[in-house]
Amino acid sequence: MDQKVAGLLNDQVNKELYSAYLYLDMANFYAGQGLDGFANWYEIQAKEEQDHAMLMYRYLHNNGETVTLGAIDKPDKEFKALPDPLKAAHEHEQYVTSLINAIYDAAQAAKDHRTMQFLDWFVKEQGEEEKNSADLIRKMELFGGDAKGLYMLNSELAGRVYSAPSLQL
Ligand code: FEO
Repeated sequence: MDQKVAGLLNDQVNKELYSAYLYLDMANFYAGQGLDGFANWYEIQAKEEQDHAMLMYRYLHNNGETVTLGAIDKPDKEFKALPDPLKAAHEHEQYVTSLINAIYDAAQAAKDHRTMQFLDWFVKEQGEEEKNSADLIRKMELFGGDAKGLYMLNSELAGRVYSAPSLQL
C-alpha cells in the first residue's frame, strides 16, 4: 500500500476516536442539562465514530499494514448554551469531510483504486453526517425556543437507535 495513504488512514483512526470522545462530551453536556434525548443522540454518534475508526483499523490490517495507536486529545470545546454542541458538531463534521477528501485525493494520486473504493462509503457517510447535523441546528432554531418544543425535540432524539454500519470488513 502507498505509505502516504496508509499513514493518513492511520491518523484517521485516531481522529475518528477523537470524534467519538468529542461526541461523548456533547452527550455528557446534555445529560448534565437533563436532556436525555439529546444525550442519547450523541452517545449513538460516539458509537458510530468508534465504528468508523474500526473500519479503518481493519482495512489497514486487511491490507498488510501495521497500525500505530496514539494518544487521543482531550475534548476542548466549551458548551454554555443548549445549541452550542449542535453547532460544534456540524463544524466538526465539515472538518472530517475535508480529512476524508484529503485521503481520497492521496489515494487517487497514488492510483490506489482499492482505497478509493473503500473511502466511497465514507464520502457518502459524510454527506449524511453533515445533513443530520445541519437538520438538528434547524430543528433547534425552529422548535427549541420554548419548553414544550424542547421537550418534543428531546423526545424525538431519545428515539434514535444504534445500528451497525452498512459497511462491514
Ligand atoms: Fe466519522 Fe462523523 O464522521
